[in-house]
Amino acid sequence: MGLKMVKNVVILGAQWGDEGKGKIVDVLSAKVAGVVRFQGGHNAGHTLVIDGVKTILHLIPSGILHPGVECFIGNGVVLSPRALVEELTMLEQQGFDIAARLKVSLGCSLLLPLHEELDKAREKMLGKAAIGTTGRGIGPAYEDKVARRGLRAADLLDMQQLEIKLEVLAEYHNFVLEKYYGVKPVAVQQMLDELTVAAEKIKPLLADITGLLAIYQASGKSLLFEGAQGALLDIDHGTYPFVTSSNTTAGAAATGSGLGPLFFDYVLGIAKAYTTRVGAGPFPTELDGAVGKHLAERGQEVGATTGRARRCGWFDAVAMRRAVQINSISGLCLTKLDVLDGLEFVRICVDYDEAGKPVYEELAGWQESTFAIKKYASL
Ligand code: IMO
Ligand code: MG
Repeated sequence: MGLKMVKNVVILGAQWGDEGKGKIVDVLSAKVAGVVRFQGGHNAGHTLVIDGVKTILHLIPSGILHPGVECFIGNGVVLSPRALVEELTMLEQQGFDIAARLKVSLGCSLLLPLHEELDKAREKMLGKAAIGTTGRGIGPAYEDKVARRGLRAADLLDMQQLEIKLEVLAEYHNFVLEKYYGVKPVAVQQMLDELTVAAEKIKPLLADITGLLAIYQASGKSLLFEGAQGALLDIDHGTYPFVTSSNTTAGAAATGSGLGPLFFDYVLGIAKAYTTRVGAGPFPTELDGAVGKHLAERGQEVGATTGRARRCGWFDAVAMRRAVQINSISGLCLTKLDVLDGLEFVRICVDYDEAGKPVYEELAGWQESTFAIKKYASL
């Protein structure tokens, strides 16, 4: 991949998420000093299998399982204190000593239980038109950030001020929850109690990540920027409104961490040899017959965060070209090729016709196993 001479690498999904980013970040983590999350929240589900042990990370960077690798949660992430504490506890129980290697930006917007309630109430009201969100409160949390009324991680340092801010925020959202959605309001005291406990665990992790990354940069240390979701779920460039609420594209690595754009050396796009999507929204190459079933079964296409079945389809080269363009992708890493083993033919969408239907190039399939092939020639 020509990564040897490269310093700061952005790794991102080039499709609709679940491309295998966690695995690739994990493999490359061994070569870097730090891994940074810069957008999204605990809607991500990055599965790592190390020595046969499966770990699913939602919020903490996938580099954390490598001793010696520092992990950073940048300002662009919407941080659920509850999810962070749960993940910290899970990793500690597995025997990972991570608290000393994890730093969280003071500038992270806080994702609170009320955001989750709003997300769920909205999806329910939308009925058939629902986006199919992960129900984690991601959209409402980003809305509060952009509306400039949200809480930030720095607020955990002053619980008295936090209480006042939380009351104002809850009053606003509870009005909507009760009067518009007709659901139960969230209890402020309960949120506050939970935050008070979580704050004790999170406070020691809080730091000026932007400042720390500048020091890493100046001392020539390599960093990996771990994207969540995928390019086609980007709030600006994705299949709006069936998208997530953050910029998932490469530019977000700069804005979501505070490292200037000229410090990025390589953008590695991760893509499956076919396409999957969880949740609703357009999917031109979707398959619902036997081939779709083959991909879903062999690829074990079940969501790591919500356990939902993923929709499956052929590789879409038209969408991929766009993803390459909007991310300045330097190189692509194609995952799960072996899932195509045993198919009679393989199709690649190379164009859309006037009606928007995919135009395919058809290739002969293969019956041999491509699993664990390490040499290009063996393919
Ligand atoms: P990783 O990082 C796949 C999808 C949801 C839904 C839409 C909006 O594991 O690749 P949200 O909860 O973000 O408001 O939901 O985005 N989505 C993902 N799909 N992988 C993910 O993350 C996703 N995170 C969100 O299914 O369609
Ligand atoms: Mg996932």
